[in-house]
Amino acid sequence: MAGQTPVASKAKTPKRAVGFSVPLLYRVFFLLIEPISALVGAYFAYFRQSDYLQLSHAASAPSTVPFGTSIALSQLANMYLFFAINEALVLRSTPDIRVWKTVLFCLLVGDLGHLYTVRELGLPIYWSVWDWNAIDWGNIPFVYVSKMPYPDKFTGFQVNGPETWTEFHKNEFQPKPFGDYDVDIKIDACGVCGSDVHTISGGWGEQHFPLAVGHEIVGTAIRVGPKVTLIKEGERVGVGAQSWSCLDCRQCKNDNETYCRQQLDTYGAKWPDTGIISQGGYSSHVRTHEHWVFPIPDALPTTHAAPMLCAGLTAYSPLVRNGAGPGKKVGIVGLGGIGHFGLLFAKALGAEVWVVSRTHAKEADALALGADGFLATADKGWNEPHVMTFDLIINTASSFEGFDIDAYLSLLDVHAKWVSVGLPEGDGIKVRNQTFLGNGCFFGSSHLGSRREVLEMLQLAVDKGIKPWVEEVKIGEEALAKTLLRLEGNDVKYRFCLTGYQDAFGA
Ligand SMILES: NC(=O)c1ccc[n+]([C@@H]2O[C@H](COP(=O)([O-])OP(=O)(O)OC[C@H]3O[C@@H](n4cnc5c(N)ncnc54)[C@H](OP(=O)(O)O)[C@@H]3O)[C@@H](O)[C@H]2O)c1
Ligand SMILES: *[C@@H]1O[C@H](CO)[C@@H](O)[C@H](O)[C@H]1NC(C)=O
Ligand SMILES: *[C@@H]1O[C@H](CO)[C@@H](O)[C@H](O)[C@H]1NC(C)=O
Ligand SMILES: [Zn+2]
Ligand SMILES: [Zn+2]
Repeated sequence: MAGQTPVASKAKTPKRAVGFSVPLLYRVFFLLIEPISALVGAYFAYFRQSDYLQLSHAASAPSTVPFGTSIALSQLANMYLFFAINEALVLRSTPDIRVWKTVLFCLLVGDLGHLYTVRELGLPIYWSVWDWNAIDWGNIPFVYVSKMPYPDKFTGFQVNGPETWTEFHKNEFQPKPFGDYDVDIKIDACGVCGSDVHTISGGWGEQHFPLAVGHEIVGTAIRVGPKVTLIKEGERVGVGAQSWSCLDCRQCKNDNETYCRQQLDTYGAKWPDTGIISQGGYSSHVRTHEHWVFPIPDALPTTHAAPMLCAGLTAYSPLVRNGAGPGKKVGIVGLGGIGHFGLLFAKALGAEVWVVSRTHAKEADALALGADGFLATADKGWNEPHVMTFDLIINTASSFEGFDIDAYLSLLDVHAKWVSVGLPEGDGIKVRNQTFLGNGCFFGSSHLGSRREVLEMLQLAVDKGIKPWVEEVKIGEEALAKTLLRLEGNDVKYRFCLTGYQDAFGA
């Protein structure tokens, strides 16, 4: 570098005067409002986690905070404390606005810990401004940086109570925390089950409201938990009426998980660890353990597959468990959603199938659906020609009004079985010992079916080309009211399936 002219050293600029250059608003906010709220936040996030969750989660308070959530909350408490100490001590020691800005920057970086919280508790922890998080405005940049590709709140058409059960309100709700075995499904279609009416109209007694019902769900798996092996992201999948059981008891290990004492329903059930109420398929999404998420075979249209997941299964399981097949005469009481699947599946299994309806109104349909015979209980002496000729009867009646159990049971052969899957409202019917005496018949019931049976049933539907009769309805407040009233009035051929989810809920 020899020969080069040395550069003249720049004259030192005088140090900027460090006066009390921090505006009053800054000082009030950083030295007073933020530290105090942060301390309150820390106290709640550490010592009163259950209350904290209730306040920040807009959900009912969990009695015991799950371990992972508790860690996340403790982490959050540390962050709050960090805020308080920094702002109260560091900033108090200097009025230099540059230091204040640097501290603010560090706090934002330190906020990365909150990302863990986002994972555990969901994004609303940030933007529910009326909660304790209102004090966390410093997090806003990170909310944008960490913008999650998954929705954290779902939207559903909920009912507020039995008095207004035909009024549906499009609300956001908090799903249960995403677990290792969970699958998030973006819903495309959902069947309308008789149980939906019983539930929201109050016929089955008290429920947790607001509630979105629907448990014949088909959609796309958009997110799978780290331990999920049964479902792939992007796959077309379905969920029925059950969403959980222990998977550890004798029933669960025996393809009887629908009879697990800890089984939980897809809607209206309280998740034991969080107290969150499960919400059904009249919604944008559903979050379900992989065991109750079923891949849908390509050959089945979405609107045909959806109603199979409750109605179809409820008919299929008792049919196969009780020997419906070639050489057997099977009766199906009630030609509704479940009943018409009972007819289709019993035929597919090779049985002779008779529909037992109240009037002749559905006779032509029953025959078109493949029934070998049709009985109308309104006819005088309707049972007489068939007394003691049936091997199995599946009863799907949703009401006991005018229900003459003796006449129905008289159809059964010696020691043959009556399986009731219908779940009428009210106190039930009276039976005496003599009721079962004439033929020594067995009187039983059946609940849904197992995962294995769902997969078998869907395959049977593909193999036999089963075509349910489905009436499509675009989901919406008014359409839901109309549809549920029609179902209640026995005006359906033979299952409603809600579609148009894209229009109702967006992408
Ligand atoms: N066990 C389970 O796991 C399970 C699962 C899902 C649903 N369910 C229950 O099963 C029942 C049926 O559900 P769904 O969706 O099939 O309902 P649905 O479509 O309304 O069909 C019910 C049928 O029951 C018949 N029925 C109604 N009232 C009757 C009465 N007083 N006497 C005789 N028959 C009567 C009607 O058939 P006709 O017009 O031909 O007489 C009607 O079509 C509901 O109670 C539902 O809650 C049980
Ligand atoms: C369900 O439990 C019963 C009684 O223990 C058993 O006989 C049956 O094999 C189990 N599984 C199925 C699919 O029925
Ligand atoms: C009739 O059933 C009841 C139980 O419902 C039982 O206690 C009683 O012993 C039975 N009577 C006869 C004669 O079987
Ligand atoms: Zn159902
Ligand atoms: Zn179990």
